[in-house]
Amino acid sequence: MAAKVRTEEKGASYREVIISLESGLGADERSFLLDVEKRFPRTDFSFAELGPERIVINLRSVALDDLKACLEQGDEPEKEEAAGPPAVGSKIIRAIENIRSYGIQGKKRVYVGYNAERKVKGRKQKEATTGKHFYATDNPFSKQNNDFPVGKADKGVCGDAQDVLRSLPDNCVDLILTSPPYNFGLDYESSTDGIEWQRYFEKLFAVFEECIRVLKYGGRIVVNVQPLFSSYIPSHHFVSNFFTSHKLIWKGEILWEKNNYNCKYTAWGSWKSPSNPYLKYTWEFLEIFAKGSLRKQGRREDIDITAEEFKKWVVAKWSIAPEKDMNKYEHPAMFPEELAYRAIKLFSFENDVVLDPFNGAGTSTAVARHLGRRFLGIDISKDYCDTARRRTHAGL
Ligand SMILES: C[S@@+](CC[C@H](N)C(=O)[O-])C[C@H]1O[C@@H](n2cnc3c(N)ncnc32)[C@H](O)[C@@H]1O
Repeated sequence: MAAKVRTEEKGASYREVIISLESGLGADERSFLLDVEKRFPRTDFSFAELGPERIVINLRSVALDDLKACLEQGDEPEKEEAAGPPAVGSKIIRAIENIRSYGIQGKKRVYVGYNAERKVKGRKQKEATTGKHFYATDNPFSKQNNDFPVGKADKGVCGDAQDVLRSLPDNCVDLILTSPPYNFGLDYESSTDGIEWQRYFEKLFAVFEECIRVLKYGGRIVVNVQPLFSSYIPSHHFVSNFFTSHKLIWKGEILWEKNNYNCKYTAWGSWKSPSNPYLKYTWEFLEIFAKGSLRKQGRREDIDITAEEFKKWVVAKWSIAPEKDMNKYEHPAMFPEELAYRAIKLFSFENDVVLDPFNGAGTSTAVARHLGRRFLGIDISKDYCDTARRRTHAGL
């Protein structure tokens, strides 16, 4: 029995899955399928036609693993031993698995109406009127991308990021993934007027200006940043403000749920009084920006993210435990490999160039190499550079 499959969305009610049958449908197969149908709510899964020339399924949503269990394994052991489940079951499963667009609701795949709330009415019109400000259509960036210089890729460089980046041409990096230092050797504690923080942001933004310059048109910058809680400085907002005022498009924000408290104060500020409660956070932020275009050019064969990864990771709250090997790598402020793994797979293609201008113990470069990306990691500390180099080339 050969099966040709066509699926079509019927309004908001169901998706019609049509499987053409070349050699008909036996009475046993028909009664097997009618038994299977009874196990699912009719509003979610039902047969509109059962042979002889085709099977038509009205499909709204289904727990695919449960359907597989019924259709491919059969659930009556004696019968199974005698004849095995009919082959038509596997064809139905394949037809449903081939439907690439669906939402997830608990165990179920939902095939209709799952993206209704995401559809923006009059999107083109909106882009035309708001584009100048919010999509930065008046950005000054050249669309001419350049190759990454031969001999500079797959390296760790020890030096000040601003200086090192000056040696790169414009528009040659696909993805920048980084987490900025908490200081640049400035003495914040003894500063009473906040001037050191001003210098801190001046230096950080000078490095970021170089980052913008070397980023390709369509490239992305992912910055892991947490507010400077104890100084009451919302650095994640400052960073977003910097990039958007430099005409990058704010692509989104991922909340990295670390499930541990940042708070070093034990009394929650004013304990049990509204006079000055201290807010506690168990998360940090990843702010994501795109240069020129939200869409990135890349070859189909260089996509390595799976459907399951994609669906899980586009939900912009990532629950990942903090890095546990900071003692081993002798670095106090690393992000975990899992975070770099997700960011690199979600925002870049294989063979892309990944840059971390504050590479620390080399998490970004080690993961980039593992994932078949080219990379450049920069850090001002020779010790961290040595660690990063060893770690990156040892492999994960
Ligand atoms: C938050 S850490 C990055 C940790 C890294 N994400 C990891 O997982 O190991 C920031 C790093 O920036 C480095 N750094 C500070 N000032 C720098 C500068 N001017 N240029 C380059 N790196 C610098 C520090 O040495 C530190 O390792």
